[in-house]
Amino acid sequence: MKRRHFLSSFAAAAIGCPLIGCAPGSPKGDDQPSETNTPGQAAGGAGEQSAVDYSQKKKLVIYFSLTGNTRHVAEQTAKLLGTEIFEIVPTVPYPTEYDVVVKQAKDEQDRDFRPEIVSLCDRLPDAEVVFLGSPCWWGTVAMPVMTFLERSDFAGKVIVPFMTHGGSKFGRTLADLDRFCPKATRLKGLTVLADDVPQSDPEVQRWLASLGMITAEA
Ligand SMILES: Cc1cc2nc3c(=O)[nH]c(=O)nc-3n(C[C@H](O)[C@H](O)[C@H](O)COP(=O)(O)O)c2cc1C
Repeated sequence: MKRRHFLSSFAAAAIGCPLIGCAPGSPKGDDQPSETNTPGQAAGGAGEQSAVDYSQKKKLVIYFSLTGNTRHVAEQTAKLLGTEIFEIVPTVPYPTEYDVVVKQAKDEQDRDFRPEIVSLCDRLPDAEVVFLGSPCWWGTVAMPVMTFLERSDFAGKVIVPFMTHGGSKFGRTLADLDRFCPKATRLKGLTVLADDVPQSDPEVQRWLASLGMITAEA
């Protein structure tokens, strides 16, 4: 179900956007980091470098994944951090047929629909730094992630986003996260192209090291 260039076929036709790397409605060139962050520049809520030592903070990985790409990055992140991992699970599973789920997600986004999820995360209140992973769905986080964000309290926490995608990178995600979690600090995150996920483990390690989340690169 992977699509290297999500918007290359019917989606591009649907939105009249013949592009790779531009999500529907996404800001152009604004707040869209490259695939990887430059070490030492990855931290800082408003794009500012941070002197905070995150290595000793309580961390948690929270993610949603439909086809396994984001799960792979989430599991690798949790493994390297040595922290717990929580999966956001929709109460009603999404269809597995690609075109069907793509259309359903577009419809849900157009209606600003919030799918029910099986549970919130009871470990969230204790976490200081939350790694939040989602596939890019129509230019932003998947709708179950929106449900989770709206029903959880991220005040005072640090959010570190990561996203797998078919060409849009973060799209509108970062602006949306700031809107959903206005009292959280957001660090720059990591985007991984769907096709690159199987080879992304070293990139994940460099990303965490650049943020000061792990002390040394193995
Ligand atoms: C409903 C749906 C919407 C998607 N929308 C986008 C998009 O707007 N931009 C993009 O680059 N990729 C998009 N994709 C591709 C996914 O982001 C990509 O395949 C991702 O790695 C899937 O992650 P997962 O395996 O964790 O579900 C979409 C895929 C689906 C199923």
